[in-house]
Amino acid sequence: MNLQPANAETIAAATRILRGGGLVSFPTETVYGLGADATQGQAVARIFAAKGRPSFNPLIVHVADQTWVAALAHCDARFDKLTQAFWPGPLTLVLRRRDDCPASDLVSAGLDSIAVRMPDHPVAQALLRGVERPLAAPSANASGSISPTLAAHVRDSLGQKVDLIIDGGACRVGLESTVLDLTKSTAAILRPGTITAAQIAAVIGPVDVITGDQAAPTSPGQLASHYAPGLPMRLNAAEARPGEAWLGFGTCAGAALNLSARADMVEAAANLFAMMRALDDSARYKAIAVAPIPDVGIGLAINDRLKRAAAPRP
Ligand code: TXA
Ligand code: MG
Repeated sequence: MNLQPANAETIAAATRILRGGGLVSFPTETVYGLGADATQGQAVARIFAAKGRPSFNPLIVHVADQTWVAALAHCDARFDKLTQAFWPGPLTLVLRRRDDCPASDLVSAGLDSIAVRMPDHPVAQALLRGVERPLAAPSANASGSISPTLAAHVRDSLGQKVDLIIDGGACRVGLESTVLDLTKSTAAILRPGTITAAQIAAVIGPVDVITGDQAAPTSPGQLASHYAPGLPMRLNAAEARPGEAWLGFGTCAGAALNLSARADMVEAAANLFAMMRALDDSARYKAIAVAPIPDVGIGLAINDRLKRAAAPRP
C-alpha cells in the first residue's frame, strides 16, 4: 500500500525515496504535490510520465526557506519584501535562473526562469529538511483532472504511479498558489490565487495581471521565451547528413549525443534540453538531426517540444 499516514517513519521513508530519484506525493497548504528531487533530471522526468502530460510545463520548485533560493535564481529587493510578507505561504515567485542553477533544465521546461515557493505545511517542511534538496512538485493529479486536496484524491488519480503518498489530511487552502513573475521590471500575476494583486501591490507597487493565453508559457505566443536552437532541426532522422549533428535515441552509431542509448524515455526527457543546447553550435554544425522518438507516454511531450523547436521561425 503506497498511502501512509504522516509520521516520522513515513517522512524518513519518503526522504529515502526522493533521494533515490523516486516520486512522493505530499500535502501542502494549497493542494497535494507530486514531488521529486529537482536536481535529478530523471526524477523530474518521472513526474511528467506519471501525470501523463502531453507536453512539458515548467514546474514549481519547493524550498525549505528563502536562503535555499540563492543557489537557484537571481533574487532582488522585490523577492526579499515579498518573501518576508508572504512566505511560508501560497505565493510562487518566477525568477531568472542562475547559470549554475543545480535544478534540472526540465524543471524550467527550457525557459531561463525558475518558479520557487516555500510551502506552509509541517509535512512539506519536514520532507524538505530531510531531503535537503529543492523538490519539484506540480499538483498531484493526472493531466486534465482537478487538483487533489486529499490523499485519497491522489491515490484515485495516480495510483501506483507514485512510490509513496503521505496522508496529511485535507489541504487548508485548497486552491493552487498565486504565481507571480518577477523576471521583468513590472511584476505580473501569471496565475491568480488566494494572495491577491492588491495584497502584492501593497508590498512592491503596481502589478500586471496576465490572463488567458499570454499566461501560459508553453502557448505558441510565448514560444520566443523558450529556448529555441539557433540551428535548424530535422526530426525523425535515421542518420546524419553531412554537416549535421545527430541527436540519437536508442542504437544510433555515429550520433554526436544520445538522448538515451538504452531507449529509455525518462532518461531521454531528462537529457533533452541540455543536449539541444550542447549541439546548438554553428561553429561545428549546420543543423541538428534528431532520431525518431516513439510517440507514446512521455515521448508525446518530447515530440511536442521537438516539433516546436523545428517549427519555421518568424
Ligand atoms: O499550490 C501550488 O502551487 C501547487 C503546490 C503543489 O505547491 N503546485 C502547483 O504546480 O500548482 P503546477 O505544476 O500544477 O502549476 C505550476 C504553475 C503553472 O501554471 C506553470 O505554468 C507555472 O506555475 N510556472 C512554473 N514555472 C514557471 C516559469 N518558469 N515561468 C512561468 N510559469 C511557471
Ligand atoms: Mg496543476
